Amino acid sequence: MDSKYLIGVPEMDEQHATILKPVDRAKRVSGDEFEMNAVVMDLVSYAHSHLDQEEDFLKENGLVDFEKEHSKKHVLFRAKAMEIYDQFRDAADIDIKKKILYDIALFCEHWLIDHINVEDRAYAVLLHKKAKINRQ
Ligand SMILES: [Fe+2]
Ligand SMILES: [Fe+2]
Repeated sequence: MDSKYLIGVPEMDEQHATILKPVDRAKRVSGDEFEMNAVVMDLVSYAHSHLDQEEDFLKENGLVDFEKEHSKKHVLFRAKAMEIYDQFRDAADIDIKKKILYDIALFCEHWLIDHINVEDRAYAVLLHKKAKINRQ
């Protein structure tokens, strides 16, 4: 993952790097159905588990009100990701599957990078400010 996407919260930075790996793999699949299914499953499961863990992390770190708004953005992503996943699962033709997988990868890449850079960075700033106050 490009270091410009790091938000300075190591636990979350690590998870962001993990989700972006299957996104990259999804763009380079050969067209083998087994490989495509495995990549899409990784992508969906890593993304969902990160969003769950990030929401818990925010609440555990006292950003309860922030989390309420933040999780609404996650809900929109989950819905859109599931919609495209259903299209992938139901596509009968292997070439169509490959094209849909590529679209999933692009959608996830754009959404995630934008979300990490803006929305996730916002909680990183709040947490860093909190840590600074606690140290004083
Ligand atoms: Fe995140
Ligand atoms: Fe987030």
